[in-house]
Amino acid sequence: MIEFLQSTLGPHYGTLKFVHLLFAAMWVFSTATGYAFYVLPVMKAWRRNPNDVEVVRARNWVMERFDESAIYEHVAFPMVLITGPLLYVVGGWSTAQGWIDLKLLIIIGLFIPIEIMP
Ligand code: HEM
Repeated sequence: MIEFLQSTLGPHYGTLKFVHLLFAAMWVFSTATGYAFYVLPVMKAWRRNPNDVEVVRARNWVMERFDESAIYEHVAFPMVLITGPLLYVVGGWSTAQGWIDLKLLIIIGLFIPIEIMP
């Protein structure tokens, strides 16, 4: 199976890495602007005026929209988790490369728990 993957995908390693990086960037940045320019300001306004009806309405609207906008991130993450192991196998990487151990520790110990949390 590994030989098959290496022989079929080996010539396309560069493309596979590009796809990995594209979805990694999409995973990281697709919610960044929504968070910085919508969620943060409305939550700060809500903290200042927790009983203001207009602020509460704006907060609820922003949170609903932000949750919906996370769809890009929810598509990107599985794609990164598919292309990553493919890069690992096709590129002949091993856990002898320290950075991969640390990276997998961060992914399994932090990223995946964050992603599966409701
Ligand atoms: C959220 C999860 C992940 C993110 C954000 C991510 C991000 C990245 C980034 C930015 C690079 C480029 C590093 C560079 O060129 O110096 C990279 C490369 C790589 N990633 Fe991931 N990755 C993730 C998951 C994984 C997983 C789960 C694996 C394997 C089990 C993996 C395997 C690799 C490999 C082997 C490379 C090296 C490619 C090369 O330099 O030829 N990645 N990843």
